Amino acid sequence: MSRRYLMCRPTYFAVDYAINPWMDPTAPVDAGLAVAQWTRLHELYLSLGHTVDLIDPLPGLPDMVFAANGATVVDGTVYGAQFRHPERADEGPAYLAWFDQHGFDVHAAKSVNEGEGDILLAGEHLLAGTGLRTELAAHAEAQELFGRPVITLQLVDPRYYHLDTALTVLSPTNVAYYPGAFSPGSQAVLRRLYPDAVIATAADAAVLGLNAVSDGHRVVLPSAATRLAGALASKGFQPVPVDVSELHKAGGGPKCCTLEVRA
Ligand code: ARG
Repeated sequence: MSRRYLMCRPTYFAVDYAINPWMDPTAPVDAGLAVAQWTRLHELYLSLGHTVDLIDPLPGLPDMVFAANGATVVDGTVYGAQFRHPERADEGPAYLAWFDQHGFDVHAAKSVNEGEGDILLAGEHLLAGTGLRTELAAHAEAQELFGRPVITLQLVDPRYYHLDTALTVLSPTNVAYYPGAFSPGSQAVLRRLYPDAVIATAADAAVLGLNAVSDGHRVVLPSAATRLAGALASKGFQPVPVDVSELHKAGGGPKCCTLEVRA
């Protein structure tokens, strides 16, 4: 159950631009509270027995706190991110340099992809979102690089712009997801693969409750997602709520802040 994560302190966190429907640059953000909430999340992982590496935040990159978007890492191989929006473009090389310096096998991306925001390891295969941020060509690139089958899922709701806002990998064999974020065909794929999935409601999704981090048993999720926490508990998982209200203003939650490092 012990995992290794990479995180980035939200030193320069702000909502200065709007690249998803949650972001309102005219609404106030409490930067100090964002740091406090992130620090609590970091300490929570340590208390659960996980290892957390830290990458230095860079000024001018207010979304760099969302480490999940920085890369995808499987079996020590790193597939770099290539961001869709110019505002985040410099984060890709920064994360790739960190992995290079730490001895990983790094590969710069040829296609637009936002790391573990859209590419999630689920057991032996990868679930990959497209339609809003990551382009389809990146799915083929990831499959070739990792040598694992990639299952393409079409995201259709701009509020759930990354796969990790609409689906949580709970264990190698199960997930939680909000069907309304996916095309009819992708909903059918998910039903076929995961007949026992935890189905999130529109209200669970709207508090970004699916932006959660599971170690196979404990599931760290936004504290606002109370119904979803109960549904997870009834399937035998242990919900661990955390308050991430400030990061939510950028469209983020616990999972966005957390990149899994699989050495
Ligand atoms: N403001 C960021 C964006 O829109 C939030 C990224 C959240 N990260 C995630 N893994 N869903 O790109």
